[in-house]
Amino acid sequence: MERIYFDNNATTQPAPVVIQKMLRYLDEHFGNPSSGHRYGEAARHGLEQARARVATLINAEPNRVIFTSGGTEANNMAIASGAAANPARKHLLTSAVEHASVLKPLEFLARHQGYQLEVLPVATDGGLDLEEVAAAIRPETALVSLMAANNETGVVWPLAEIAALCRSRSVFFHCDAVQMAGKEEIDVRRLGVDYLSLAGHKLHGPKGIGALYVRRGAPLVPLILGAGQENGQRAGTENVAAAVGFGKACELAVESLPHYRSRISVMRDRLEKEILAAIPEARINGNEQPRLANTINVSFKNCASGALIQELDERGIAVSAHAACHSGDLTPSHVLAAMQVPETFQHGTLRISLSRFNTMDEVEALLAVLPGIVARSRRGFAA
Ligand SMILES: Cc1ncc(COP(=O)(O)O)c(C=O)c1O
Repeated sequence: MERIYFDNNATTQPAPVVIQKMLRYLDEHFGNPSSGHRYGEAARHGLEQARARVATLINAEPNRVIFTSGGTEANNMAIASGAAANPARKHLLTSAVEHASVLKPLEFLARHQGYQLEVLPVATDGGLDLEEVAAAIRPETALVSLMAANNETGVVWPLAEIAALCRSRSVFFHCDAVQMAGKEEIDVRRLGVDYLSLAGHKLHGPKGIGALYVRRGAPLVPLILGAGQENGQRAGTENVAAAVGFGKACELAVESLPHYRSRISVMRDRLEKEILAAIPEARINGNEQPRLANTINVSFKNCASGALIQELDERGIAVSAHAACHSGDLTPSHVLAAMQVPETFQHGTLRISLSRFNTMDEVEALLAVLPGIVARSRRGFAA
């Protein structure tokens, strides 16, 4: 059976050239980048070339990019850094639909270190009200952390405006751009963002590698202490092969960006149009807002995501729900809850996330089976 992968917001398939490149750094160029000999030099060269490629994707200077173990660590590092910048400022601002790797460290600071955390609501279409953001920023605000694009719905927020607002109020701004990188252009210098997080595995690179961009002048608090790697900002021998793979993936993303939106959105639009035409009582969450071209978040009334995912998987098609699914029990998604998606719809949600490796034939294959699967799940739901 040909398998079809539509869960690219969870992770992407590493591009074949990414794997080839990584293998060379596991095998031939296995040296420690801090070593003074040729082995070290080769590894160092790979690492710095990778850093330059990651920097190019976001138009940063390479020395402003710190490699991390992934998006989660980059988010934690940015939050710890921005929050600690000024001891007199103890107010933190975020939104209700952020990834757990943003919400949890912010909650930790509120619970254990005397910060006050303010969580902004979103509209029913997933939009963020900039006036509300502006009104919530206070003289004691240390950091605003808002995502570039939502991992569940693909809804995109006006980053440049948010960054300008934070700048005008002298507040640090961290942006989790893990889902946007490689899908939309990001220019950190034009945006004027202070911290920006990236992850390799969301753009056809490897897992376990990410990066934090830190604007020159923005404070940085290292989370991992030890030797002087990453300019003393993140100790531990670098994961050179993963960094090199991430760098290659960024280079590929830069090449594909000009065509990404037009190529992927044709498939996304066809899927959405046909799903809405063929399946009654379906809704696309967030479709009234600007969105990533690759993400569909669709809810079917009186349906169980777990059953849909399982049946699709049996037919070789991988999609996800909005939430972790354990033996049929669904924990409602905090994102859909924040958007006030009715409960009768929330439990029947699928996230279908495409990549540039998907084809229209795969889209047609999903469309051929989905209406029947939803109808069967509804019969089971009613029983
Ligand atoms: C929006 C967002 N932020 C952060 C992360 C965490 O990245 P990582 O898996 O590399 O730790 C993810 C991954 O699911 C994500 O979607």
